Amino acid sequence: MIDMKNPSAIGITNNNGLRLKSLSKNFGEFTAVEDVNLHIKRGEFLTILGPSGSGKTTLLMIIAGFLEATTGDIEFDGFSIMSLRPEKRNFGMVFQGYALFPHMTVRQNISYPLEVRKGARDEIVRRVDEMLELVQLHSFGDRLPRQLSGGQQQRVALARALIFDPLVLLLDEPLGALDKKLRSDVQTQLKHLHRKVGKTFVYVTHDQEEALSMSDRVVIMNHGRVVQVGSPQELYERPSTIFASKFIGKSNILRGVVKQVDENEIVYIIGDKYFQQLASNENFSINDEIILALRPEKIKIVSCKVASNEVNILVGRVIDITYLGSTISVNVETDAVGEFILEVQAWCNQETLEKGREISFAWSLDAAFIVKDIKS
Ligand SMILES: Nc1ncnc2c1ncn2[C@@H]1O[C@H](COP(=O)(O)OP(=O)(O)O)[C@@H](O)[C@H]1O
Ligand SMILES: [Mg+2]
Repeated sequence: MIDMKNPSAIGITNNNGLRLKSLSKNFGEFTAVEDVNLHIKRGEFLTILGPSGSGKTTLLMIIAGFLEATTGDIEFDGFSIMSLRPEKRNFGMVFQGYALFPHMTVRQNISYPLEVRKGARDEIVRRVDEMLELVQLHSFGDRLPRQLSGGQQQRVALARALIFDPLVLLLDEPLGALDKKLRSDVQTQLKHLHRKVGKTFVYVTHDQEEALSMSDRVVIMNHGRVVQVGSPQELYERPSTIFASKFIGKSNILRGVVKQVDENEIVYIIGDKYFQQLASNENFSINDEIILALRPEKIKIVSCKVASNEVNILVGRVIDITYLGSTISVNVETDAVGEFILEVQAWCNQETLEKGREISFAWSLDAAFIVKDIKS
């Protein structure tokens, strides 16, 4: 039997982390998780991001050992852990509901995992003190969960999941029940906590902002499959599919036909309008379909005089304006390409914007990126 509490005792010295290999899970006819391959590095904050029903919880439950995969394998530091029961995997788990024991004090809740592991009394007291310090609840030890705010209860749940020194911490939408302001505070605390304890965090959320702001890497899931894996910046700057480009941030989708290709640029046509795009690694031939995603903030409003110098330019009528504080979101209807969404700086564009007004807008050669149109 592998001793998951002390992998180095059996000669595992390489920092391999957690490997998910071709994991699938069927519920009858329905495939909730399909062929997931993923390497989660030691100490990494990895977020699984996807819409509701995309298979995130199912995947986390398989990693935790509460659900059996239909096919595939999970390795930790090169050893399969598939046959290990949840408690033998030594992974901590925090769920969406805080799942604290309501009749137990904060101290009793936090010490519970060590009590069931039959730790020594003075060692338990010492560890609970450490954990209370870690989550900054030292003066709350004797309170009951109902005497705490939602954010404090969630920190108790975190302390309880960390007290037995787990190899990996699995968190399933742990901030889902908190209001927006509190959520953002606890996000910051959680990030600090991750840095302090240096453990591997696998974090599940459907909230893209949360994923981008907290994680080292993000895995985008849809329909049970991994769509794309990357750093927050990579995913925002270079989403590979239409789904990813719309799930992380907003995008205008342009569907054109390639008319000219050379090593520097691609010329494509939508309707009867020509556009240009920086050449990419993909090979395009004349008359191929090309799909591009264009971020609203990469489009600028131009005056007619300047407009003649711009490469990609369109004229449209403003149909909606949403003031967002530092920026303004503008919906524009064009005859040539349909509806567009632009996001422009509020301080310099306020006067020119008015519903019904005609505006010209433009984007540069390298502003859009080529995406694929696949199911996920
Ligand atoms: N025990 C189950 N039996 C049947 N279908 C299930 C079961 N658990 C989850 N599912 C289905 O699997 C899909 C993925 O669920 P889940 O992993 O909970 O998604 P997420 O956490 O991303 O919202 C959903 O369509 C859900 O209805
Ligand atoms: Mg879920």
